[in-house]
Amino acid sequence: MQKVKILGIVGSPRKNGNTAKLVKRALQAAAGIPGSETELYEMAGKEFHHCTGCFRCLETGDCRFKDDLQDFMRRYMGSDGIIWGAPVYHMAVPGSMKCAIDRMGNMSLCRSIAQGQELPRFNKVCGVLTIGATRYGGQDMVMSFLVNSALLMNGVVVSGDTWLGNYIGAAAYTGGCAPEQLRSKKVVLQDTEGMDCAENLGKRVAEMAKIVKAGLAAVKDELPSEYFYTWKEV
Ligand SMILES: Cc1cc2nc3c(=O)[nH]c(=O)nc-3n(C[C@H](O)[C@H](O)[C@H](O)COP(=O)(O)O)c2cc1C
Repeated sequence: MQKVKILGIVGSPRKNGNTAKLVKRALQAAAGIPGSETELYEMAGKEFHHCTGCFRCLETGDCRFKDDLQDFMRRYMGSDGIIWGAPVYHMAVPGSMKCAIDRMGNMSLCRSIAQGQELPRFNKVCGVLTIGATRYGGQDMVMSFLVNSALLMNGVVVSGDTWLGNYIGAAAYTGGCAPEQLRSKKVVLQDTEGMDCAENLGKRVAEMAKIVKAGLAAVKDELPSEYFYTWKEV
């Protein structure tokens, strides 16, 4: 059986909140696909310094800041499928998540250059999901950013099923900006459509991860080595 590892990333600074509920639902669905193993990674409580643009990674292959990024990247690189989850913060992803993505993006490419290797193709199958307080609160902006980020990391993006509402990913909302809705960590459970979209997305990520991994193995001798890059510690 083709085994795959699916990593669910929760970009909310709030632990076990609504974003985590969505990502967990997606992972639950992914786990239902035979051969699929899942892991949840919450960014809450983790330290991600912002990128200062020093390009030290170009020489050493690592970031000058030693914080939670190195462990995060190890988990990312060790996975076949990624479910990116973020709450909408001011029409965008939370700052801490952007800090992690900026540094991961640069380091992932610069490490291969520092190690004298071909620019890698990571082949991660990615799906994105989000939640905002309001129905039209910037979910499209967040999903577009995460999709573009996945493409930049040469990911294979899947959206789920359009008929369910998954156009480019899964979007949910808390139902409004009343204090109890903003403070609640589980109000998303009432958005059954959003939860269903997350479930569908998780399933599709796991299925496509299996397809890509099996496909790569089947045509190994016919592809350049950058498709088979492995993340090496420095
Ligand atoms: C700093 C901040 C900015 C926010 N900006 C938006 C926004 O632009 N649009 C929106 O719909 N919701 C916004 N929200 C609401 C959150 O997206 C919403 O409460 C979400 O459920 C939080 O996810 P969590 O429970 O995983 O922390 C904002 C919340 C915070 C704390």
